[in-house]
Amino acid sequence: MSTPVPTLTFIGAGNMAGSLIHGLLRDGHPADHLRVADPIAAQLEPFGAQGVATFADNNAAIEGADVIVLAVKPQIAQTVVSALTDLSPQQLLLSIAAGINLASLSAWSSASQAIVRCMPNTPALLGVGMSALYANTHCTADHRTSAEQILNAAGDTLWVPDEGALDAVTAVSGSGPAYFFLLMEAMIQAGVDLGLDRAIATRLTLQTAYGSALMARDSSDDPAQLRQNVTSPGGTTAAALQVMLDNNLPATISAALHAANSRAAELAEEFGGGVA
Ligand SMILES: NC(=O)c1ccc[n+]([C@@H]2O[C@H](COP(=O)([O-])OP(=O)(O)OC[C@H]3O[C@@H](n4cnc5c(N)ncnc54)[C@H](OP(=O)(O)O)[C@@H]3O)[C@@H](O)[C@H]2O)c1
Repeated sequence: MSTPVPTLTFIGAGNMAGSLIHGLLRDGHPADHLRVADPIAAQLEPFGAQGVATFADNNAAIEGADVIVLAVKPQIAQTVVSALTDLSPQQLLLSIAAGINLASLSAWSSASQAIVRCMPNTPALLGVGMSALYANTHCTADHRTSAEQILNAAGDTLWVPDEGALDAVTAVSGSGPAYFFLLMEAMIQAGVDLGLDRAIATRLTLQTAYGSALMARDSSDDPAQLRQNVTSPGGTTAAALQVMLDNNLPATISAALHAANSRAAELAEEFGGGVA
């Protein structure tokens, strides 16, 4: 017997909803089991064109759905969830809104609401994101499977053992793309300073970043070993790395991620509407 296809409703027809829906359609999720709601008709048009049911009214969109994906900005999450008067506790509320904790989501919906909280990152827009998930105790195995399948459409997924870990996830993978972008910017500029044309410095940097990421992901060696493998004593790489170590790059990165972790916890309080 085949497993029934869940009906998914996306609240908010923005970038993240778009990438998830695109990925789901690409993975074969039938369009007639997808819905999206947004107050702006123009936002809904591209989804309607792909056969996805579109709604201006969030409550109409969630009727009979198995999973409700909260894909609005964190600032309006409270208003949107509190207004979902037709939400039933057995419907899975899957929130991708950064910094909105389970206590808030539960307070705005129901104390027994099945909720999965997820922290994706920007490369999800290209189907190569990294998402970490955490489920509350009201979630069944089916709820967890549905949540994982939805986020798998946008890249890789993993479960974290406690909700607090999501702040650290935010510091590592949520904000992580920007750290790599900064490194790329700096390498491109250094290449230009060394006399390279900007277009050439850019191409060299980006392909190097891409190749290094693939090697690090797919190799059985960890990044420390890969670094040692390409660092000959007295060579050019060793000269560059020594400058980075002398300038405390690892300590700077550690301090940066600690700052992101603290800020994630602060934002949860700001957006949580006073719920602990
Ligand atoms: N983009 C990322 O890389 C990323 C990474 C991690 C987490 N996230 C999280 O994902 C969530 C969505 O981000 P996004 O980048 O997709 O944002 P977005 O592009 O701004 O999408 C949000 C959508 O929700 C719509 N909306 C506003 N009020 C609504 C309402 N009352 N009912 C239904 N829809 C409503 C917005 O319409 P208007 O434009 O008219 O306001 C917009 O189309 C955020 O909470 C963010 O924290 C995003």
